[in-house]
Amino acid sequence: MKTLFTNLKQLVQVREETLKPLKGSEMKELPVLNDAWLLVEDGKIADFGRMSEIPFFEDATEIDASGKMLLPGWIDSHTHLVYAGNREQEFVDRINGLTYEEIAAKGGGIVNSAKKLQQTSEDDLYLQSESRLKEVMKMGTTAIEIKSGYGLTTEAELKMLRVIQRLKKNFDLPIKATFLGAHALPPEYKENKEAYIDLLINEMMPQVMEEGLAEYVDVFCEKGYFSVEDTDRILEAGKKLGLIPKIHVNQFNAIGGIKTAVQHGALSVDHLEVLQTDDLDVLEDSETMPVALPSCSLFLGIPYTPARKIIDTGLPLALATDYNPGSTPSGNMNLVVSLACIKMKMNPEEAINAATINAAYAMGILDTHGSITKGKAANLILTEPIPSYGFLPYSFGANHIDSVYINGKKV
Ligand code: NIG
Ligand code: FE
Repeated sequence: MKTLFTNLKQLVQVREETLKPLKGSEMKELPVLNDAWLLVEDGKIADFGRMSEIPFFEDATEIDASGKMLLPGWIDSHTHLVYAGNREQEFVDRINGLTYEEIAAKGGGIVNSAKKLQQTSEDDLYLQSESRLKEVMKMGTTAIEIKSGYGLTTEAELKMLRVIQRLKKNFDLPIKATFLGAHALPPEYKENKEAYIDLLINEMMPQVMEEGLAEYVDVFCEKGYFSVEDTDRILEAGKKLGLIPKIHVNQFNAIGGIKTAVQHGALSVDHLEVLQTDDLDVLEDSETMPVALPSCSLFLGIPYTPARKIIDTGLPLALATDYNPGSTPSGNMNLVVSLACIKMKMNPEEAINAATINAAYAMGILDTHGSITKGKAANLILTEPIPSYGFLPYSFGANHIDSVYINGKKV
């Protein structure tokens, strides 16, 4: 099957090859092709060029995209999209003055979501999650990472991961699964953290691997959750089983987790709202991608990840939503890209690079996704007629998406 987009005002993020993520000043460059066409064949980007030199293609379905732009679909490398119910009450509690930490301390937070999830059947959990996935795909997300971590028992963690596996089977977009058993300490283990970590390492992770349910391992490395030593132990055990680390770190406190993550060859370190200079030094000689989650900062009213400091140091940066019921009940990558510009002072070019190429790296799919490159998957966003790509983050709160394609098929 062939689809031919013609009369594109602009083809955005056009690259010959993408062997590495974009760092520092490289992030300012967003290559485009004006007045362009693009051919999709068998779900892949087959060819593209300028309208003035368009060849004749036999039996291709033509889409006249006058005034519109085509760009690689958003890649959301950090979500907790599989969860049960919601935490609207905590939202109101925070409006009335409690902090996220105070809510967690009185039994709310992650543990509250775990209680709900444990009581939800796998089928019901699947249906709730499927509807969220469909919602974010309509908003331009064309690849997604999803974490466990609202189960906190072997049975419930496996239930979450099986739901992710079912989503993988039923949807064509790339989905990566991350085991986040170390998200919070279940109340039964309050006085016995070591026993919970033993359970994670000796029971949960081996079963997860036996069923082939995860690619990555995550830990919430934070005061009151899991220490640097705990993180080290869990990542080490995960690595032995073949799980690559991707961790939550430096959200509220800088306790040294970045160094441990880098030592374990983490693919990404996510959150980083609180960063110290030595954290940046550690990242400099690494292959680890820093990931910022600005819609979490917006929702919780916490600091934004210092993107300028990170990029101006010469480091790469990716953007993701953190879609979850507690700190970010939104999976809208368009808003994330806008917030990156508005609140983190990233240029539109940097933000789009961070949500496509660098996000693809943070999800381990840069060789097949994240740019307009021949042979890559035709996972695309076709915009409405807009004056420039910068109009996307500028007109925050609106999406300006005409249609979304996964492997060349319209969502
Ligand atoms: O990434 N920080 C840890 N985990 C999630 C929030 C979890 C929750 O509140 O349910 C996050 O923000
Ligand atoms: Fe998260």
